[in-house]
Amino acid sequence: GFEQSLRPQRLVQYIGQEKVKDNLSIFIEAARGRSESLDHVLLYGPPGLGKTTLAAVIANEMGVNLRMTSGPAIERPGDLAAVVSSLEPGDVLFIDEIHRLNRAIEEVLYPAMEDFCLDIVVGKGPSAKSIRLDLPPFTLIGATTRAGSLSAPLRDRFGVPLRLEYYDIEPLQEIVIRSAGLFNVKIEDQAAIEIARRSRGTPRISNRLLRRVRDYAQVRGNGTISLDIAKEAMEMLQVDSHGLDHIDHKLLTGMIERFRGGPVGLETLAASIGEESVTLEDVYEPYLLQIGFIQRTPRGRIATHLAYEHFGYPMPEER
Ligand code: ADE
Repeated sequence: GFEQSLRPQRLVQYIGQEKVKDNLSIFIEAARGRSESLDHVLLYGPPGLGKTTLAAVIANEMGVNLRMTSGPAIERPGDLAAVVSSLEPGDVLFIDEIHRLNRAIEEVLYPAMEDFCLDIVVGKGPSAKSIRLDLPPFTLIGATTRAGSLSAPLRDRFGVPLRLEYYDIEPLQEIVIRSAGLFNVKIEDQAAIEIARRSRGTPRISNRLLRRVRDYAQVRGNGTISLDIAKEAMEMLQVDSHGLDHIDHKLLTGMIERFRGGPVGLETLAASIGEESVTLEDVYEPYLLQIGFIQRTPRGRIATHLAYEHFGYPMPEER
């Protein structure tokens, strides 16, 4: 689809995550040189940083097929058997949200990862028996926002664990310029920087903002994305100078106004924005921690002086 077309196909086209790329390029070249499958890869980090994109790039670089599934989609051992039995030698099996696999599936996955075989039970009751299926060598790429919620035995079976980091402004600007080029739309350097600054360190957000700013430039401007157009568009989208949206506002101003800046518990905070606590922890909180607007303490989250300044509140004398 159109969304897909922005995704880089090769490692050299993939912008940012330099450490990850350096490591991967060695392991890929080595595996290729030995005509072996790449060792299993675990990609972890906040959403939107390019885990799925990277899995596709790896499959491409290895010259193999990519099979995609997710933890929640594999409910029974038979579901996993169906996916892995269709693999060709060297193929990449991508399991998104791998921390959501249930224990029964994990048990089946261990021998599949270690010895490329699958023990499955056929039949029911007294005539049930376990049969062992041989699989072709394959590469499992697991993706998760929370490496901590993977069981230790599963985590230990990945030979290549890679942590994706939030992107700096510069690589995000480069991504915006690249995407604008693919859209065939003119963009000023300063406009690309402005979009990058408001992207929460996240390429997926850069590309989403770029699409909306492009719409704005087409309808309200002359098609070119100037700095003024970019700023106007993002103001209309209620994306502020730090890329914080209305949910972040609600969260932070709520902490400041109702809880004197905290400490306030995770569950209480989640309820204040009408979200589940895992969504708060995995989606909203990581970036706010990264830019130092909130801190975690043993007694709960606190809003820092940076949050007070950003929203124009005076710091309380003491909490
Ligand atoms: N589009 C989204 N993420 C990207 C990246 N890291 N490099 C190039 N294009 C991208």
